[in-house]
Amino acid sequence: MSPTDRPEVIVNCAVSADGRLAYAGGKRAHLSGPDDLARVQWLRADVDGILVGIGTVLADDPSLRVHWELIDRPKGRTPARIVVDSNGRTPEGARVLDGSAPTILAVAERAERVFPPTVQVVRSGVERVDLTKLFAELQRRGMRKLLVEGGGEILASVLHAGLFDRLTVYVAPVTIGGESAPAMVRGPDAGPERPAVPMVFVSAEPIDDGVLLTYLPRSGSQAPARPLSGSSRPDDSKASG
Ligand SMILES: NC(=O)c1ccc[n+]([C@@H]2O[C@H](COP(=O)([O-])OP(=O)(O)OC[C@H]3O[C@@H](n4cnc5c(N)ncnc54)[C@H](OP(=O)(O)O)[C@@H]3O)[C@@H](O)[C@H]2O)c1
Repeated sequence: MSPTDRPEVIVNCAVSADGRLAYAGGKRAHLSGPDDLARVQWLRADVDGILVGIGTVLADDPSLRVHWELIDRPKGRTPARIVVDSNGRTPEGARVLDGSAPTILAVAERAERVFPPTVQVVRSGVERVDLTKLFAELQRRGMRKLLVEGGGEILASVLHAGLFDRLTVYVAPVTIGGESAPAMVRGPDAGPERPAVPMVFVSAEPIDDGVLLTYLPRSGSQAPARPLSGSSRPDDSKASG
């Protein structure tokens, strides 16, 4: 897939120092401090869409809105919320279905669920959403910049398919441990048939009590190099490399 066939994709998440996205069983962990939370709002304010998997909706019930009150910026346009949900399992009462922002449910072709008219439905993939086709469709609908926030299964698919242009990981100064706390990247095991995802380290920036790591896809991996657009966050120059 050519980088021009999809929006610019920024992947962002917060993990513990032992690489966990959440507490045992996927219970939400508030890993970011105030400065990192504000950084994420700057990121959200800068994109056309914010994407998560259905696992995140079921676990966290996120609003996926820009919290303008956390950043010193006048309220701007509202990015679309995109949920990758092959079988239409998003609960009726989920915050992403509250009608307060444009919402896209990305489902598989076989999904039968009917959503409220305020929701746009994009179909791709027979049994599971095909992210390459989904991203191409989002581009066709005018999205230029997409923020992927998780969770671990979506990150696995996006990173392994090379469908990203920048990865930022806030590493909080805590460990979570245990057997059931989800790792940052889930999906099938890596090995000779599914090699690790090669990346280029860009920067490590202290933020709150933790560190923000920035990586780019390594050219020659599946993700073709593309110039990154700027961010309007005032102090983003370090983070974007
Ligand atoms: N710390 C952070 O920054 C952060 C951010 C977000 C989430 N989280 C945590 O992450 C956890 C949820 O992560 P998760 O891994 O369980 O779920 P997830 O990645 O949010 O969603 C995974 C689901 O997406 C659907 N999906 C459809 N097409 C897919 C594809 N091509 N590739 C991958 N998934 C696809 C699958 O369900 P179907 O087959 O039904 O479609 C899959 O089970 C929660 O504990 C949440 O708290 C943490």
